[in-house]
Amino acid sequence: MEYPKCDFIICNSSSSQEHGSEINNLLDDPLCNPEHPIKVTFEDVTSAAYKIKSGIKNTPCEKSHISQLTGMNIFLKKDFLQHTGSFKERGARYALLMLDEQERKKGVIAASLGNHAQAVCYHGHQLNIPVTVVMPIIAPIMKIQKCREYNANVVIEGQNMFEAKQKAYELSKERGLKYINGYDHPHIIAGQGTLALEILEQVPDIDAIVVPTGGGGLLAGISVAVKTLNPRIKIIGVESERCASYSQAMANGKPIYTPIEGTLADGLAVPEVGYNAWETSKDLVDKMIVVNEEWVALAILRFLENEKCVVEGAGACGLAAILCGEMDEFKGKRVVLILSGGNIDTTILGRCLDRGLAADGRLVKCRVTVSDRPGGIAELCKLVCSIGVSIKDIIHERAWVTSDVFSVEVIVVCETRDYTHSVELHNLLQEKYKNFVFENFPAHPRSLSTSHSF
Ligand SMILES: Cc1ncc(COP(=O)(O)O)c(C=O)c1O
Repeated sequence: MEYPKCDFIICNSSSSQEHGSEINNLLDDPLCNPEHPIKVTFEDVTSAAYKIKSGIKNTPCEKSHISQLTGMNIFLKKDFLQHTGSFKERGARYALLMLDEQERKKGVIAASLGNHAQAVCYHGHQLNIPVTVVMPIIAPIMKIQKCREYNANVVIEGQNMFEAKQKAYELSKERGLKYINGYDHPHIIAGQGTLALEILEQVPDIDAIVVPTGGGGLLAGISVAVKTLNPRIKIIGVESERCASYSQAMANGKPIYTPIEGTLADGLAVPEVGYNAWETSKDLVDKMIVVNEEWVALAILRFLENEKCVVEGAGACGLAAILCGEMDEFKGKRVVLILSGGNIDTTILGRCLDRGLAADGRLVKCRVTVSDRPGGIAELCKLVCSIGVSIKDIIHERAWVTSDVFSVEVIVVCETRDYTHSVELHNLLQEKYKNFVFENFPAHPRSLSTSHSF
């Protein structure tokens, strides 16, 4: 690939203009220029693989227990086992190794929600290169903390990635630091592609590889490597419906600003696909799947329960795509899921698991009106417990109850064994109480119920 010589240019992409003044005058990186996108090649990926080999783990890619339950042969590429918990180390190390002497001395700067920042900080520390990272205030606390532990200069600024990026550009100019875009710098894309070379060595006869997609760097690197070596393998991208910028780019024919909302897959929350990532991958991606938050939460739960893997929302998206039925054409086929990251705040993990249990029909909320006479609530509790359901929470409401004054409305949050157990509870309560509802109960059992033993 050939690089432009200038240091910085003004970004004037039409999509940026559409978004208005916030991005309009953003100083952009010459290596991520919409007018001159760079197509990363297979040779770039192999050169990255050679260079980073000694500093990056060749993570396992083994057949998963989930195979039996999905009707597919599922292989999990566990790149969350990298030192900083994500695949981002691959590109980060390669980009740092490719700096010239002067650039190494001065140091680099990156803007990131977390994984890219951690990766650059860690490898910068290893290679003795000073690192500054700008993280928006929404970045997960755990990821911010980790960057500090690697002795980096951590700047918390901006409500979102755009604002953080803007600050990083400013500092980059001011201090002469090399800016490393986390998904669009050509070396980053090439580095991420090394994941595919490992997978192809580890798993024979692959039918499809499922790639979590944010700015598109991982998708681009993987697709160029895979399609060069074996064009028969399908490349499937997955993104959250709350930040579906790649699907929007596909619909638009080029990257376009896509408003994003808070998502469990925070690593994918990039509002505009990278220009180089797009140029490299646009003709190589076979299908893009958009998943909702419920499936992501359920996928995180499944990985924990079935695989004993703690995977962050972004990393769990591949399984979410299977769970929601969008990959049914691969039943009986050999599918690799990339578990791209495991950095999830413990508090968020707790919430995800609760959401996953609710989506699975194993955590249920019942609203029931019972007698307020002594023993009325006790009777309800006894009934619930009689079939082995455990009560997690219970709230009483008297003021807004419209039936007689000797009634109390009780909201009971229950933990059940599985969907069928919840249905049993439903039928039991419906038989006994006139005013009773299950709130937000899934209409159908999810495909991978843990009630099946494996
Ligand atoms: C865990 C994880 N998975 C996937 C991605 C998507 O990578 P890309 O932005 O290159 O599409 C990211 C991006 O930060 C990530 O952190």
